[in-house]
Amino acid sequence: NWTPDSFVETTVQELKDQLGNDKVVLGLSGGVDSSVAGVLLNKAIGKNLTCIFVDNGLLRKNEFEDVLHSYEDMGLNVIGVDARKKFWDDLAGVTDPEQKRKIIGRNFIEVFDEEAHKIQDVKWLAQGTIYPDVIESVSVNGPSATIKSHHNVGGLPEKMKLKVVEPLKLLFKDEVRRVGAALNIKKELLGRHPFPGPGLGIRILGDVTPEKVSMLQEADAIFINGLKSWGLYDEVWQAGVMLLPVQSVGVMGDERTYENTVALRAVTSTDGMTADWVHLPYDFMAKMSNEIINKVRGINRVVYDISSKPPATIEWE
Ligand code: XMP
Repeated sequence: NWTPDSFVETTVQELKDQLGNDKVVLGLSGGVDSSVAGVLLNKAIGKNLTCIFVDNGLLRKNEFEDVLHSYEDMGLNVIGVDARKKFWDDLAGVTDPEQKRKIIGRNFIEVFDEEAHKIQDVKWLAQGTIYPDVIESVSVNGPSATIKSHHNVGGLPEKMKLKVVEPLKLLFKDEVRRVGAALNIKKELLGRHPFPGPGLGIRILGDVTPEKVSMLQEADAIFINGLKSWGLYDEVWQAGVMLLPVQSVGVMGDERTYENTVALRAVTSTDGMTADWVHLPYDFMAKMSNEIINKVRGINRVVYDISSKPPATIEWE
């Protein structure tokens, strides 16, 4: 009979047996999965776990600082790496979505690998892989076609020659959240929406620049904070803003503007495999649109994405 408490108890014991006194490295993303994996491993092996959190320059507004602090508060042994410039430099001028994913994935591996090698005698790589990641990456990387390359599965172990430990591999998202609650992880962290590994890099359609990143961060923060303050955040499985490569005409005072468009996206889902757009209240959408257009320089038009998955995907790239 599966319960979160029994899962924690047996998994902590299994991790102790499997890992002994070995050193383990884990990449944290700020998301639910890697955070739960981190706390679970910390419970099993304590300071033999080193966590690495990389700022790839494609995170949400204030995400790096906020998340780093909450990990430190949870007692995790965590190293924060500011690699923004490296990612931005390598992404300059690249417009193809798969190319962008590959660059982001490769850079992440390089940065992570460099940090991990600073740890003496590290033997294991831990990953917060959950069951849907396993099935999606098998199906998308099959012989027929590569739809999207999820960089959080695969890649690292071959390069680093580490053994892999994935304590959440058989769990679905809701089970991961329940395990997290059993581990006393804060509600705000456990209730966080999923966020893609390539981050805002795949929500900026076309080429990525630091200016576009900060424009999108501002719009995204307004939308996400708005969902929270209107009590809508927990009703939504995932939400975000896409910066479109579309400029259009507008007026601001007496001036004609020719600026950018963003699309708001909010979906319900259980595992990300299928999704429905959320019927957000019109009053809320009106407020978000006004706030984004008034406060974020460079954006003069806001649209709402009313496409379901399938055939649309949650992300636009
Ligand atoms: P799609 O866009 O395929 O997304 O409907 C399904 C879920 O996966 C996330 N996603 C990614 N996560 N690396 C990730 O780690 C990726 O390359 C990637 N692409 C999409 C997406 O945010 C949604 O939760």
